[in-house]
This record gives sequence, structure tokens and C-alpha cells, in this order.
Amino acid sequence: MKTVVTFGTYDLFHVGHLNILRRAKDLGDRLVVGVSSDELNFRKKQLRPTYPIDHRLAIVESIRYVDEVFVEEALELKRQYLLYHHADILVMGDDWEGRFDEFSDICRVVYLPRTVGISSTEVKVRIRGVA
Ligand code: CTP
Repeated sequence: MKTVVTFGTYDLFHVGHLNILRRAKDLGDRLVVGVSSDELNFRKKQLRPTYPIDHRLAIVESIRYVDEVFVEEALELKRQYLLYHHADILVMGDDWEGRFDEFSDICRVVYLPRTVGISSTEVKVRIRGVA
């Protein structure tokens, strides 16, 4: 049983999110997703996600490739989360290339290419443009 763990905000769920979750699940048997809390996003970007954490968790949990979700409360806890969930593989988008190599002592670290041309930020900008 190989467990894959990945992290993200997953605000305004879009096809880039779907693609990375599908490809992450393909690498193992079980996919666990850490969804970042509203406070963590505020600390990172000085911005709250459009959808609150309970909505984002419910959406990600309902994706067929996802076996389990949890709330990521702090970036500094990544190692603990990986150990707690018995991660064999950590998957991140290649926008994070190299930034999580420190965890290669406890699991394999894989960076997957992002889907080109879409992001939650870009969706927000586009909607603002037509409103
Ligand atoms: N992701 C992806 N392709 C995209 C957008 C996101 O593969 N086009 C991946 C990210 O690399 C990450 C996961 O989806 O592993 C969650 O990313 P997140 O930051 O929540 O999504 P973004 O759309 O990038 O959000 P933002 O615009 O707020 O940065």
C-alpha cells in the first residue's frame, strides 16, 4: 500500500487541480490531501481564499482520486504531516520545484508539471474583468 500526500489551497476548484490530483493518485494506492487553512493562506498571501476551508475540504474530499483530506494549519508542520500520514511520496506542482527536497529523507519527493493556462488567481482576475 503506497501512500501519496499532496498539499494546496484548492480555491475555486479548476481542471489544473483535478489533473494534479489524478496524476498524484496514479503514483500510488492512496491519496491524502492537505488543504491549507484560511489563516495559513492569509499568512502566505495576505488574502483569504474565496471559498472557506470547510467548502474547499468538502470539494476536494468528493474528488474520486482523493481518499482522505486534512487541514494544513502551518507550513512548518509539513514533516509532521508526512510522518503522521505515512507518506511514501510527496507530490507538489513544479512551481515548487526543489523547495521540498529536504523531505527526501522520509519519502520520495515528486514535482509534477502544472496545467498550463489556469490558476485560481487567474480565474479571479478574469471574473473581475467581466463583472
Ligand atoms: N496546480 C496545477 N496546475 C495549475 C494550478 C495548480 O498543477 N494550473 C497544482 C499546484 O501546483 C498545487 C495544487 O494544484 O500542487 C494546488 O494549487 P493551488 O495553489 O491551490 O492552485 P492555484 O490555482 O495555483 O492557486 P493560486 O492561483 O491561488 O496560486
